[in-house]
Amino acid sequence: MTAIRILVGSVYGGALLTAREIKKSLENQGYPITVLENPALEDITANDDALLVCTSTTGQGEIPANLLPFYVSLRDQLPQQPGRPFGIIVLGDSSYGDTFCGAGDLMEEALYETAARKIGDTLRIDALETMEPESEALPWVREWLNQL
Ligand SMILES: Cc1cc2nc3c(=O)[nH]c(=O)nc-3n(C[C@H](O)[C@H](O)[C@H](O)COP(=O)(O)O)c2cc1C
Repeated sequence: MTAIRILVGSVYGGALLTAREIKKSLENQGYPITVLENPALEDITANDDALLVCTSTTGQGEIPANLLPFYVSLRDQLPQQPGRPFGIIVLGDSSYGDTFCGAGDLMEEALYETAARKIGDTLRIDALETMEPESEALPWVREWLNQL
């Protein structure tokens, strides 16, 4: 079974809870899952697990503080990860207009610059539409896994 590392960015806990629900569900199916609540670059460079970003958006389309150091190191160092599969789940709120789910776009851009390979379309979860992000994330993840 493909091992998966979930990179979490969360301010109020919604994205973290979503990541934990994904872990629970996938572990039941036999996937080895690591949830990284305060990821560092070495958490991804020391292995070749598939990467799943599960982050909310803060500020004006920005990355939450717990994921920001990882993002900055990734952008600064651009450790090349040719072909490494990744997926993006991003929480946001469409009332923020242009910055809706901006954190997901930033993470995608940075990962593309490492030559990693995006699997599936980004899942954007709108807080205006749902109070239960995990109920959208779980079916999406099942599809995502099929494409790995
Ligand atoms: C101060 C603040 C700024 C936010 N900025 C944005 C934003 O720029 N774009 C967006 O799509 N959502 C924005 N959001 C909405 C959050 O991303 C959304 O509520 C998300 O579900 C929070 O997830 P979390 O509990 O993991 O932090 C903002 C929320 C707060 C409180």
